[in-house]
Amino acid sequence: MNLIFLGPPGAGKGTTAVKISDFFQIPHISTGDLFRGHIKNQTELGRQVKSIMDQGELVPDEITIEMVRQRLREPDSTKGYILDGFPRTIHQAEALESFSRPTAVIDFELRDETIIRRLSGRRIAPSSGRVYHIDFNPPKVEGRCDVTGEELIQRPDDRPEAIQHRLKVYKKRTAPLIDFYRKKELLFPLNVEKPPSEVFEEVKKLVQNHSS
Ligand code: AP5
Repeated sequence: MNLIFLGPPGAGKGTTAVKISDFFQIPHISTGDLFRGHIKNQTELGRQVKSIMDQGELVPDEITIEMVRQRLREPDSTKGYILDGFPRTIHQAEALESFSRPTAVIDFELRDETIIRRLSGRRIAPSSGRVYHIDFNPPKVEGRCDVTGEELIQRPDDRPEAIQHRLKVYKKRTAPLIDFYRKKELLFPLNVEKPPSEVFEEVKKLVQNHSS
């Protein structure tokens, strides 16, 4: 099962992908997490992409496509994968077809006001990338990761001005993928204005029905 989780920033793609990956034992490949890993490890790629990401712009297609192409060559993705945050442009989607075929694209649908609430309250644990929300998924001790105890931080691109910009970029450059995959009959729209556990159950059912 080669899954793509499509949807605006803060829709809950990463939150759901972690659980689906665990349940179906397929890797969760998030381009955002891969880039953040490069920034943390201070690689050349990390240096190239940091300011682009902080401003909420998209990293150039060729860099992103090559990173995903390499990642999908790793043995764990032969029995399937969840791509979270890729493709994000028509060019990326066309390139993906040249090295791997998606089997289902789940489109996470929600209102802008919900997106803003989810992103502005998100906090992450910098070393592990674990994701919390100050209201919807708070840590046991305020401001501290439940597992490592480290201090939670806000992603630089979750500042209000960057959120607005990411939404604009999503509508202009990524939303056209909805039609692209609808025409290929791979699109499964899903209303995600519900608690994370319900979103997980619905995605799980959808994947089970689709693969049986
Ligand atoms: P990326 O990391 O992919 O960011 P994104 O797509 O903007 O998605 P997010 O991580 O913000 O949101 P999410 O949908 O995963 O939501 P989450 O589960 O965390 O990309 C970052 C940047 O990297 C891009 O801007 C770009 O610069 C670059 N990049 C990445 N991929 C690229 C590509 N292909 N091409 C070019 N550039 C690329 O949830 C959000 C919050 O809501 C959390 O706090 C969570 O706890 C909470 N929450 C989740 N689900 C629910 C729910 N059901 N109810 C209530 N709260 C919920």
